Amino acid sequence: MSKQTRPVSNEATGNSRDGFTSSFGVLAATLGSAVGLGNIWKFPYVTGANGGAGFLVVYLLATLLVGLPVMIAEISLGRRAKADAITTLRTLAPSGQKWWLVGLSGVIAAFLITSFYSEVAAWVFAYVFKAIRGDILSSDPAVTSAAFGALISDPWQSLLWQWGVLLLMGGILAFGVAKGIEAVTKKLMPLLFILLIVIGIRSLMLPGAAAGLAFLFTPDWSKLSASVVLVAMGLAFFKLSIGMGTMITYGSYFRDEQNIPATTFRVMTADLFVSMLAGIAIFPAVFSFGFQPAAGPSLLFITIPAVFASMPFGHLLMVLFFVLSAVAATGAMLSLLEVPVSVMVGRFAISRPVATAITVLLLALVGASCALSNNTLADTKLFGMTFFDLFDYLSSNILLPLGGICICLFVGWIWGKEQLSATLSNHGVLSNGKIVSMVYLLLKFITPVLIALVMLKGLGWL
Ligand code: PHE
Repeated sequence: MSKQTRPVSNEATGNSRDGFTSSFGVLAATLGSAVGLGNIWKFPYVTGANGGAGFLVVYLLATLLVGLPVMIAEISLGRRAKADAITTLRTLAPSGQKWWLVGLSGVIAAFLITSFYSEVAAWVFAYVFKAIRGDILSSDPAVTSAAFGALISDPWQSLLWQWGVLLLMGGILAFGVAKGIEAVTKKLMPLLFILLIVIGIRSLMLPGAAAGLAFLFTPDWSKLSASVVLVAMGLAFFKLSIGMGTMITYGSYFRDEQNIPATTFRVMTADLFVSMLAGIAIFPAVFSFGFQPAAGPSLLFITIPAVFASMPFGHLLMVLFFVLSAVAATGAMLSLLEVPVSVMVGRFAISRPVATAITVLLLALVGASCALSNNTLADTKLFGMTFFDLFDYLSSNILLPLGGICICLFVGWIWGKEQLSATLSNHGVLSNGKIVSMVYLLLKFITPVLIALVMLKGLGWL
C-alpha cells in the first residue's frame, strides 16, 4: 500500500477508521498517555523514598529491559490489527486460543486505574482554582494541610470534582481520535514542557537547591530490596501506560509509515526527561525552604503550595504548577478512557458518543469508591487497604505486570518473529533488522522471565 491518507483503511476489513493524522500527532498523543500524574505525583516521591539514584538505576533498567520491548510489542499488535485491545488479540491469535482475555484484563485495569487516577486529577483541577483564588497561598504547612484535608474529607466535593473531570474527558473523547485526542494533546504537550522548564529553572535558582538534588540523585543502595525492584518495575509499566491495552489501542491509530521503534524510544526518553524535570522542579524548592520531602499525595498538595507561597512570584508559579499537572493528567486520562471506548465502538458497534457516555457513567460509579476512600468509606478496607490504595496496588503490582508477561509470550511464541519484523520494518521499508532481533529476543526469553521473577519475589512468593 502506498502513502496513507485519512481515514485509514483497515487492511483486513476495508472499513475506514479514525486515527492519528501526522507524525507529530502520534508522538503528542502517545507521549500524552505516558506523561501524567505518574511523573509528577508518583515518580518524585517513589524515587525519593526508595533510595534516590539507586532506585533511578533500577527504574532505568526496568524501563529499558521491560518497558521498551513491551511497549514496542503492544504498538505493533495494535497497528497490525487496527482494532481495539480485545479484538486485536482475538484476530491475531490462532482460532480457539483465548488471548483476548489479556485485552479484557486491560479493560478491567483501565477501570481500576481511572477510578483512583481521576480522583487525584480531581484534586489537581480543584487546586488550579484554589491556587488562582489564593486559597492555598500559605507558607505554613499546617494551613495547606488543613486545606487539603477539607477537600478530601468532603464526600461531595471529592465526587463532584471527579465527575467534572470525567465529563471533561468524555467531552474531548466524543470528538474522536484525530479531532479529540490528537488535537488536544498536540496543544497541551508543548505547553507542559514549557511550564516544567520554567518551574525547574526557578527551583534550581533558589538558595540551597543542591540539597534537593542530592536527595534525588545520591544513591542509597541499602534501601534496595526485592519489593523496591517490584515498585520500580510497576512504576515503569504505569509510566509507559503498558500491560493494559492502552498502547495496543493507540498503536491501532498509528499511521502505517510511522517508525514504531524510533517513536517508542522517543516517548520513553521524553517521559524520563519529564520525570527528572518534575523531580528537579520539586525537591530543590522543598529543601530550599526547609520543608521535609513528604511522601505520597501530601507532597503535591500540602508541601508544594507551602513551598510556592514562600518564594517570590510564588502565586503565579503555583497556578502554573497545577495547570501543568492538570495538563499532564488530561493526556493520560484520555488514553485510559479510550481503552473501553474503543472496545465498545469496535466490538459492539456502539456509536462513539454513546460509548463515551457509557464509559463516563460507569467510571463515575466505580470511581466513586475511590472518591469516597478518604471520607465516607475511609474505614472500609479490603486486604487492609482502602479502595483507592487497593486499585493502585492491584493495577501496578499485579495486573500490569501480568498483562506485560502475556504480551511478551504472545509476541515471542505465538505471533512470531516474522510478523513482528514485518510490522516493525513497515513491511521492509525500514532496515532495522538488528533492533527487531534484539526486541524479539527480549520478548521471547528475557523480559517475561524478568517480570515473573520480580513479581514473585516482590510479592514475597519466592
Ligand atoms: N502513564 C500515565 C502516568 O504516568 C498513567 C497511565 C497508566 C495512563 C496506564 C494510561 C494507562 O501518569
